[in-house]
Amino acid sequence: MRILLVGGGGREHALAWVLARHGHDLRFTEANPGFEGLGRLVGGDPLDAAQGVDLVVIGPEAPLAAGLVDTLAARGIPAFGPSAAAARLESSKVYTKAFALRHGLPTAAARVLAPGERFRAEHAWVVKLDGLAGGKGVWVCADAAETDAAVAQARAARPDAELLLEEVMVGAEVSVLGLCDGARMVPLLPARDHKRRFDGDLGPNTGGMGAVAPVAITDADLAVCHDVLRRSVAGMAAEGTPFRGVLYGGFMLTATGPRLLEYNVRFGDPECQPLMTLLDEDLAPWLLGSALGQLPGDTLRWKAGAACCVVVTAEGYPERGADAELRALPADTADLVVFQAGTARVGGQLRATGGRVLGIVGLGADADTARARAYAGVAEVRFDGAAWRTDIGASW
Ligand code: AMP
Ligand code: GLY
Repeated sequence: MRILLVGGGGREHALAWVLARHGHDLRFTEANPGFEGLGRLVGGDPLDAAQGVDLVVIGPEAPLAAGLVDTLAARGIPAFGPSAAAARLESSKVYTKAFALRHGLPTAAARVLAPGERFRAEHAWVVKLDGLAGGKGVWVCADAAETDAAVAQARAARPDAELLLEEVMVGAEVSVLGLCDGARMVPLLPARDHKRRFDGDLGPNTGGMGAVAPVAITDADLAVCHDVLRRSVAGMAAEGTPFRGVLYGGFMLTATGPRLLEYNVRFGDPECQPLMTLLDEDLAPWLLGSALGQLPGDTLRWKAGAACCVVVTAEGYPERGADAELRALPADTADLVVFQAGTARVGGQLRATGGRVLGIVGLGADADTARARAYAGVAEVRFDGAAWRTDIGASW
C-alpha cells in the first residue's frame, strides 16, 4: 500500500516502523533521522503529497482538528483519523463533558465557568482550560486556595476561554485505545503513560515520560472502559458526527469503577510506541478499514509479553528542549527498539533538538523483563543534559 504519514515525532516513528515491517511504500511529510530507511521524505503540503497514495495516516491532533481528513475525503483520498467535527472530542473539553453527560458515561461531576464569571472556590477542583493545550492546560488542585490561584492563572493565559471545573478523582490511570470505523470499535491493549515529569509522579504534567502495555487491570474494569468507548462511538454516530480513527479514552480507576478523564482522537504519544512493538500483524488494513468505514475484523493480534517505553528528554523539559550532539544510541535488537522524536541531522551530525528526544522500548516475556531491557537501552544514550524518569513501569 502507498501510505503518506503526516507527523514526524516519536508516535509517527513507531507507526512508520510497524508499517515498514509489512512492506508498505511509505512517504513522509516530515521526518526525524529515525525515519531514515523506512520510506521517503516528500515534505511539503500534505494535500499535494497525498496525490496518488492509497491512504493518508495522520498522527498529531492539530491537523485533525483543522479538518485535514475532511479535505482529503472531499478529494476522494482515504485518510485515517476523525473529521474536524468528531475531533472535537479532544479539542474541546467543554463539548466532551457535555457529550459524556448526555450519553450517561461515567465521568467526574463538573461545571463550566464562562470568561469573566465571578467565582470563589469552596473546595478543591480540577481546573481545565478549554481547547488544545498540549497537555498543559490542567491544574489538579489540593484545596480551595490553589483552585482560585489556578483559575486566575488559566484566565491570565487565555482570558476568552471557558474553564471546566471538575470534581477531583483519585485512582490509577489507564489509556484504552480503540480503532473505530464510525460504527464499531476494536480495542488495543490497555496502556499507561506517566505524565508527570519526575519520579514518584511529581512535578509538572508533560506530554508523557514513558508508557507501558499491557496494563494489569481487572476484566471487569477493562469491560467498562471498552463499553464507554463503544457507547461513545454509538453516540457520535447518533449525533451525525461518526467517529473514525483511533479513539483514546483516558480513564481513572476509582473506588467506584473506571471514569472517563478525557478523550484523545489519535494515538497517544508515547503509548503508541509500546503498542506498535507488541502488535503482531499488519496495521495498514486496519487503518484503511477505519478510514473507509469497515474495520477488517473484531480483534487485533498481539505478541505475548509486555513492552515498556522510557522517554529520554532534555534536562529542562517541559520548559526547554535540548540542543546537543547525540553521541550514542543503543542498537535495535529483537527486544529493544529506539524511536526518535526530538532529533535532527545537522551537517551530518545527529543532534538532540527537542523536549522529548527518544523513546526506548524494551520488550520481554513479562513487565519486569521489558522494563529492565528498556533501562539497559537508556543507559547507552549519550547527549549532554539527557534526563529520564527511573520509575517507568515500576508498578503496572
Ligand atoms: P486531562 O488532559 O484532562 O487528561 O488531564 C491531565 C491529567 O490531569 C490527567 O491525566 C490526570 O492525571 C489529571 N486529572 C484530570 N482530570 C482529573 C480529575 N477530575 N481528577 C483528578 N485528576 C485529574
Ligand atoms: N500520552 C498522552 C497523550 O498522547 O496525550
